[in-house]
Amino acid sequence: MPLQFLAIISSVRENRLADNMVALLKKQFEKEMAPSGHVLKFLDPEDYDLPLLKKPLHFYGPDEKSQIPDKLLSLNELVKAADVYIILVPEYNRCAPPALYNTLDHLPPPSFAYKSSGIFGYSMGPSGGAFATSSVRPLLIELGCLPVSHSVQIPIAHTVVNADGSTENSHVLSSLKTLFQQTEWWGELAKAGRAKGIPA
Ligand SMILES: Cc1cc2nc3c(=O)[nH]c(=O)nc-3n(C[C@H](O)[C@H](O)[C@H](O)COP(=O)(O)O)c2cc1C
Repeated sequence: MPLQFLAIISSVRENRLADNMVALLKKQFEKEMAPSGHVLKFLDPEDYDLPLLKKPLHFYGPDEKSQIPDKLLSLNELVKAADVYIILVPEYNRCAPPALYNTLDHLPPPSFAYKSSGIFGYSMGPSGGAFATSSVRPLLIELGCLPVSHSVQIPIAHTVVNADGSTENSHVLSSLKTLFQQTEWWGELAKAGRAKGIPA
């Protein structure tokens, strides 16, 4: 069953390392997942440039619909169309970066619900984004896109993943493959379940 994967970038930092991780994800997805018909898209908060949260999409009243910014509507359509979310998350002070929370909090939880997700953590430090990964799990559960058990962690990521997405580290590649396999398995089940109907 072909699935649409949406990788959500969490960093808008200048010279972000996120771009290396994006390149790695693209490269490996092409190799491991595209042959089965799966598609990978990206949500880059940089493209939306949302303000710090003033009004989420779902807080606009019935008579305020014309005031909803177009970019918020198109962001929501991108999220709704996805079957699986991959959260690319670096570690900022043992947590996830503010751009991730700010972006996701703009959207209604039902746009994410009854789907699967996987977390891909990285950092320049030795933790590999493990603390950030743990902090994102409750958020994904609350949104209703349940995270799979496996997560990718890449410590000292600036020395491990090159700008073209290549890496000499075979553990990173096998870990990413496990993330793909688990999210594909749950993602297919969730998609079939949604087709049958979801609780009112
Ligand atoms: C505000 C801030 C806090 C950080 N805190 C941590 C941390 O707790 N643990 C860690 O391993 N690295 C930490 N770092 C270093 C990041 O891992 C590193 O900057 C990484 O490149 C961030 O990803 P990005 O470049 O995609 O934004 C921090 C960086 C910033 C900017």
